[in-house]
Amino acid sequence: MPGKILNYGSVNIDEFFSVPHICSSGETLSSTNYVVRAGGKGANQSIAFAKAGGKVYHAGNFGNDAVWIRDLMKENGIDMSFAKIKENEKNGRAFIQVSEETGDNCIVLYPGTNGTYTAEEASEVFKSFGSGDWIVQQNEISQGGAIMRLAASKGLSILFNPAPLTKGILKEFPFDKVTILIVNEHEAKSLYEEIGGTKQVVGLDLATELLNQFDSMQGVIVTLGGEGVVAKFRQDGKVSDFKVASRKVSVKDTTGAGDTFVGYFLAAFIRAEKEDYFKRVELALNEANFASSIAVQREGSMASVPSLEEVKENMK
Ligand code: RIB
Ligand code: NA
Repeated sequence: MPGKILNYGSVNIDEFFSVPHICSSGETLSSTNYVVRAGGKGANQSIAFAKAGGKVYHAGNFGNDAVWIRDLMKENGIDMSFAKIKENEKNGRAFIQVSEETGDNCIVLYPGTNGTYTAEEASEVFKSFGSGDWIVQQNEISQGGAIMRLAASKGLSILFNPAPLTKGILKEFPFDKVTILIVNEHEAKSLYEEIGGTKQVVGLDLATELLNQFDSMQGVIVTLGGEGVVAKFRQDGKVSDFKVASRKVSVKDTTGAGDTFVGYFLAAFIRAEKEDYFKRVELALNEANFASSIAVQREGSMASVPSLEEVKENMK
């Protein structure tokens, strides 16, 4: 029996503005389209995990204005029994510009309810979880580091996606308790510099440097956008490198692609539990890569997460 999966993460009301290009300082732009959608890195990752066929518990704080997002997550098969509605608090929001030219985005966050997470509430939630279970975390809620420390003290395995990366994150979160780390290349470089690295490292070497720094880690995955994905994992004294090529697709909106990758990776990794460890990693990286390549071709964040059938169809 696989353990339980708990995602302790953010929820945002995403306000999308389609723009000819990302606005620069002092510029005023007219948006050609405006759409409000469900989002937040935490919520998106739970959706991706659930769409990939996994059972996830989402612990998150919602404003009265985002009850619809909680219900949407429930409809997608996510266990919301640890979700809380914070009366008198506005839900977190993301103001997202998406460039019509490149599909790239620029995001301004308003924390709202994402700033109301506490270690006390988390210790209540952790009464239902323990060794053999997984926690998934991002860097979009208050007290994330304290919550991760509690999870580690309860013996949970930890999947950490430190996004968005903020300065000083190394002090805030117990990276030495993390089991699997998923970062993009920019985040990997910043972390490498924070641990005092001075060499010019890219790609797989970044994964190697980070893995070597933290004994707790089984694996480090670095997503490289258009260049694919690299990873380094270790298990039972063996070490293995992974490289997955990117798929050539036409990019419409990259928002949510990273979250799709994280959710799909863990779901596929757990689904393949009976396989050899490195085989599981390979299968999961491949599936996650396909899933996120579909997400970049679609508008929105949570709305762009594909179903498992769509992913499998694409992998044929
Ligand atoms: O990763 C995409 C997400 O980042 C968006 O849904 C937005 O809410 C921001 O948190
Ligand atoms: Na997208």
